[in-house]
Amino acid sequence: MCGLIRSRARRWNRGDTLSKQMDIQTHAEAAGSKYALYQQICEQLNGLLGDEQDFIANAANTAALLFHSLPDVNWVGFYTTEGQDLVLGPFQGKPACARMPFGRGVCGAAAAKRKTIVVPDVNRFSGHIACDTASQSEIAVPLLNWGKLLGVLDIDSPSLDRFDEDDREGLESVVAVFLASQVTGDLPDLSDYAASQS
Ligand code: SME
Repeated sequence: MCGLIRSRARRWNRGDTLSKQMDIQTHAEAAGSKYALYQQICEQLNGLLGDEQDFIANAANTAALLFHSLPDVNWVGFYTTEGQDLVLGPFQGKPACARMPFGRGVCGAAAAKRKTIVVPDVNRFSGHIACDTASQSEIAVPLLNWGKLLGVLDIDSPSLDRFDEDDREGLESVVAVFLASQVTGDLPDLSDYAASQS
């Protein structure tokens, strides 16, 4: 979210007309409250996860916290990587598609491209997998842990165009808090290096 603050500051420094400034102010206020919401979610999540490292327990609590904190969403959940497939993990909402290959659907696209995908209208996204007919827009954020794709966080809304750049930044921050709990033995052991330096 630091980038969000920086981009807001850049916009305020421009010599815009009064009406344009008012538009920017309205947007900044809206984004400000969204920023505050994601900041609050990140802090709550950090406390909620505590020292727990279990992926399923932490993914379940992350999905529940987001589902009950974000306005206008009808599905929040995780898909985890299994080979070249994504498999359904902890979620809140209606029953969902259990497995999809990389490249299929919004989640598969986020996994294949290893970047966040924001879909303003799922009906216009080729290959979208409809789990809940109420869903109109969607965002999928890849879980990249030290370059390794662990899965995808997926969120649906019953409103068109529900997710914007501020949601992308906010949810990528939430994913960073979640991933910080996933300390595994796969991380490099630097103790020999540290010893060689002393
Ligand atoms: N719509 C997703 C599938 C998962 S559900 O929305 C829960 C997709 O196209 O990847």
